Amino acid sequence: MIFEKYPFEKLNILLKDIEANSNYEASSLTIGEPQFDTPSIIQNELKNTTSFLNKYPKSAGEDYLKQSMLNFNKKRFNLDLKMDEIIPVFGTREVLFNFPQFYLFDKQNPVMAFTNPFYQIYEGAATACKAKVIHLDLLKENNYLPIISDDELKTCDLVILNFPNNPTSATISKKELEKWVLKSLEYDFVLINDECYSELYFENDKKPVCLLEACIAVGNNEFKNSLVLNSISKRSSAPGLRSGFIAGDKTILKEYMKYRTYVGCASPIPLQKTAALAWSEESHVEGFRKIYKKNFEIAKEILNIEMPEATFYIWLEVQDELKFTQELYRSKNIKVLPGSYLGRNGIGKNYVRIALVENNEKTKEVLTRLKDFMKEYK
Ligand SMILES: Cc1ncc(COP(=O)(O)O)c(C=O)c1O
Repeated sequence: MIFEKYPFEKLNILLKDIEANSNYEASSLTIGEPQFDTPSIIQNELKNTTSFLNKYPKSAGEDYLKQSMLNFNKKRFNLDLKMDEIIPVFGTREVLFNFPQFYLFDKQNPVMAFTNPFYQIYEGAATACKAKVIHLDLLKENNYLPIISDDELKTCDLVILNFPNNPTSATISKKELEKWVLKSLEYDFVLINDECYSELYFENDKKPVCLLEACIAVGNNEFKNSLVLNSISKRSSAPGLRSGFIAGDKTILKEYMKYRTYVGCASPIPLQKTAALAWSEESHVEGFRKIYKKNFEIAKEILNIEMPEATFYIWLEVQDELKFTQELYRSKNIKVLPGSYLGRNGIGKNYVRIALVENNEKTKEVLTRLKDFMKEYK
């Protein structure tokens, strides 16, 4: 089994022999980790619940956490999900890696499709279950929406979409998602939308849609073949809390739950109690949204980019992304991630990913430095 090196490891190798300009403060725009303190109401809840460490947590998750996640889905997407239509998970990363292994386990020649460029765990999962991969290329000329022929789609067992998208920041309309739901029913594949960035939006009339809303819109009220993933990590600036959920088709979730009992990824009870509070509290998320929106306004002004509707990534077109990354580091002590490390078959070439996860002041300073570099870069 050969797992691809993770992009950050590749980046370390790329920059290893380069001396960064120490006249500037070291700045890293590479990782999708919010650089803000987790709000104190969340931290305090964790401190107050440590006495529960003497209990084994249930793999299925505690009911109060499930209820809090159901309330979130009701408030945000007007979804009336039932208790058997959701499973709390230990961050979505573990699901993205083990769900394909669960679902594709007994398929003879499994086929998995996912957006390209992509969050690297999708590919790791495909490698682990020896699945054939079909890349859904996200191209600028198609507004970074996935492209696939019906002939290819018919062969798929599992399709992973990721909107709002990391790294392109593209969003998808409900109408587009409805088409995907109908295809998943027609060709009988499981459709997942990884919605980890759904809460980082900037306009109340342009909130990202949920795949399960699209199911309802086409009359798939039981969410057959459809699943969504969401996470507290970006929304609450709390990736260390490891709280996410998978929701949708209860028939699939029932079997998946049996599998999860063996995986052993139950979340400690203090974390579950804390997560229950974080999923039900919205004002702290409002605060983060304002910061990310302002960051993009700063980026728009300095780099002349288009303002996306969600996420915190800039997918910036550059010439020769590897050279760009090296020279930027050498000359301005800024690290970015080459797009080609996130895509396959040439996708991501001539792009870098910039994560705007710092406060407004730092963002302005570092993007100004980046702009100065771009004026010199050939
Ligand atoms: C697209 C996408 N999906 C999933 C994750 C995993 O998030 P978590 O495991 O913290 O829920 C990330 C994290 O960067 C991501 O970018």
